[in-house]
Amino acid sequence: KSLSLTATSPINIALVKYWGKVHEQLIIPANSSLSITIDQADLCSKTKVELIPTAEGAEPQLRLVLNGKEDKITSRIRSIIELMRERTQGVRAHDDQGHTLTLDASELRTHSLIITSENNFATASGLASSSSGLSCLAFVLSQLYGVSESFPDEYTKFARLGSGSACRSLYGGFVQWHRGFQAIQELTEDSAKVSDQSLARAVELSQESMEWWYNNLSILICVVNPGDAQTYQKDVPSTDGMKITLETSELMKLRLEADLAQKHIDQLTGYLEERDFPKFAELTMKESNQLHAVCLDTYPPIFYMNETSRQIIKTATKLNGQGNIVAYSIDAGFHVFLFTLKENQVKVHEAMSVLPGIDQIIITRIGREGVKLI
Ligand code: DP6
Repeated sequence: KSLSLTATSPINIALVKYWGKVHEQLIIPANSSLSITIDQADLCSKTKVELIPTAEGAEPQLRLVLNGKEDKITSRIRSIIELMRERTQGVRAHDDQGHTLTLDASELRTHSLIITSENNFATASGLASSSSGLSCLAFVLSQLYGVSESFPDEYTKFARLGSGSACRSLYGGFVQWHRGFQAIQELTEDSAKVSDQSLARAVELSQESMEWWYNNLSILICVVNPGDAQTYQKDVPSTDGMKITLETSELMKLRLEADLAQKHIDQLTGYLEERDFPKFAELTMKESNQLHAVCLDTYPPIFYMNETSRQIIKTATKLNGQGNIVAYSIDAGFHVFLFTLKENQVKVHEAMSVLPGIDQIIITRIGREGVKLI
């Protein structure tokens, strides 16, 4: 008799970028960030977790099957599983035949745990798949092990253990991941003892005030061909990249000291409330540029954009000649996310689709829903 649960989770794109940590293991960000959730109908991860009784004398297995292939259980995934095993009080559930199963915490450890995860956007790999995949895994595991939040927004912490940006995929709409109320200097190696309640939560901005954006914003994802720079993205994963930036970039130091990320979040939230697309667009593009500027200021420098990404920026800039109608944003890769109002979608799409080096343009929109059981 096995127990299983399945969840789906969306990807999210940072408008104000998270880059740098003050605590590596707990994944406490150096600055707050703000993201937009993408509609799960177009892009999402789906993860099934199964607890299967182990045959007499056999060792319980721990397996991850990702997009149909056996994959490695990373130390981060292991830490989420360990946390669930520590926290669980046992589970009581119904199996496929409707029988009630009760397993206590120690019995759970003797079961094999099989994780099967897939993305519905296989063609566009490297497209923020860690944010959707790891939020999905953390959430569905907590549900399987019957671990609910012991304080509000604690799921943030579970997802964060997988990947920082994952915690923003728990919610729909616009999501702010707070750096935490704890001053940076208070975070010592003992910070595990610091009350988790005060640390690094993701919170959804009120959906009501954002209704206009749900109805009017269109999102175009330019899936860029890697060209001969095929290895760039894998060269410097974001976890390593942000660490080197923090260690070596003077510009990054200034960004943190002036708390520009928080300033940008406050401004952007204001523009969202005022429904001011041109200002929203300008700040979104400047934030993205600033991420890539601190990457260039990192020593040795980190390049995420490729020639096609730059051509897309140039084309967007040209389209914005008479006032901003489109914004771009690029994360730790070369794919480009474009934001425009529906009335300009065709114009933007036409201008971009003639550029060489773009494999596909996915037309999507804001997602109202974060992670959910299905
Ligand atoms: C550029 O969340 O992938 O996309 O916490 O080390 O797993 P880890 O990093 P990750 O970093 C994302 C960086 C970014 C900006 C953002 O999403 O805010």
